[in-house]
Amino acid sequence: MRRGLATLTAAVLTAGSLTACGGDDAGDAPVPKIGVILPDSATSDRWETADRKFLESAFQKAGIQFDIQNAQGDKSAFQAIADQQITNGATVLMIANLDSGTGKAVLDKAKAEGVATIDYDRLTLGGSAEYYVSFDNTQVGKLQGDGLATCLTKLKAQKPIVAELHGSPTDNNATLFKEGYESVLNPLYANGTYVKGPDQAVPDWDSVQAGTLFEQMLTQSPKIGGVLAANDGIGNAVITVLKKNKLNGKVPVTGQDADVTGLQNILAGDQCMTVYKAIKTEASAAAELAISLAKGERKDVTGSVVDPQTQRKVPSVLLPPQAIFQADVKTVVDDGFVTRDELCTEVYADACKQFGIE
Ligand code: GAL
Repeated sequence: MRRGLATLTAAVLTAGSLTACGGDDAGDAPVPKIGVILPDSATSDRWETADRKFLESAFQKAGIQFDIQNAQGDKSAFQAIADQQITNGATVLMIANLDSGTGKAVLDKAKAEGVATIDYDRLTLGGSAEYYVSFDNTQVGKLQGDGLATCLTKLKAQKPIVAELHGSPTDNNATLFKEGYESVLNPLYANGTYVKGPDQAVPDWDSVQAGTLFEQMLTQSPKIGGVLAANDGIGNAVITVLKKNKLNGKVPVTGQDADVTGLQNILAGDQCMTVYKAIKTEASAAAELAISLAKGERKDVTGSVVDPQTQRKVPSVLLPPQAIFQADVKTVVDDGFVTRDELCTEVYADACKQFGIE
């Protein structure tokens, strides 16, 4: 069972200031409370199926009070949740922002109220978070670029036209992923190995828009031979269009997040690869820092990133991502990130067997 903050409705009115104990706290010392705001549940399965689950269990293990909410892609809801959590006595706020503007507003307000903050997964540009916990996102992009190159080589593609579908322009991670895969692809365009095809950013990582954009790309350049798709949701939208054109399996497509659909597309041979990020490790690292902040301690971390907007050095934990091709799908299952049952449905049963997932 979740030990959330007091119900975030009328109870807000009775909650004390953030330094006081919430109405449900016994004893004199203020009980630390951690508020977490996740961005949405549509752009990637991870936020609800992995991040929430692993954060919950880390907080529960530590016996700390917490409240995890999801802004469902709504920026004003995001800010309202933050306000409520602060009013309800959160002493630490952890956010995966929807954009840097609203993220910064939330972080600045928290700071003004004496609430410590953590940027979770996405760096808030111009922000003020005490810590940033994520993966090495440029490396994520490099793995995608290298992965696409591996699959194109395997298909013996001759001077293929490569299309790129980037993540949301408001997500700093999308910028870093792009930096990573373009560091691989740009030299290959420059030396004539590949032809640079159309490239577009997908607003809000919205897979419906991704499908429309790719349909337009394919109409304009019917000979697209490879697609760098920034995550599995976008990849699946591309694969759906390729299927309609009987091109699936002939045009390698990348992804990210190792979600069930992405892994199934890989097993089916329709997706070249995905990038697995062990969210459990990310959630545990972030929870550990949040818990220490809630206790008024400050843990040292070895990494840092520089906020490109302010040049501020943000103490960071950056975890290593992992490329997943057909033969590696098994490792994602072995890691407990997806279950064999959800992955190996009837259609994929043979492929699961073939790749040792039993
Ligand atoms: C990124 C995140 C990815 C993916 C994407 C869409 O910021 O790092 O794992 O989930 O957002 O939500």
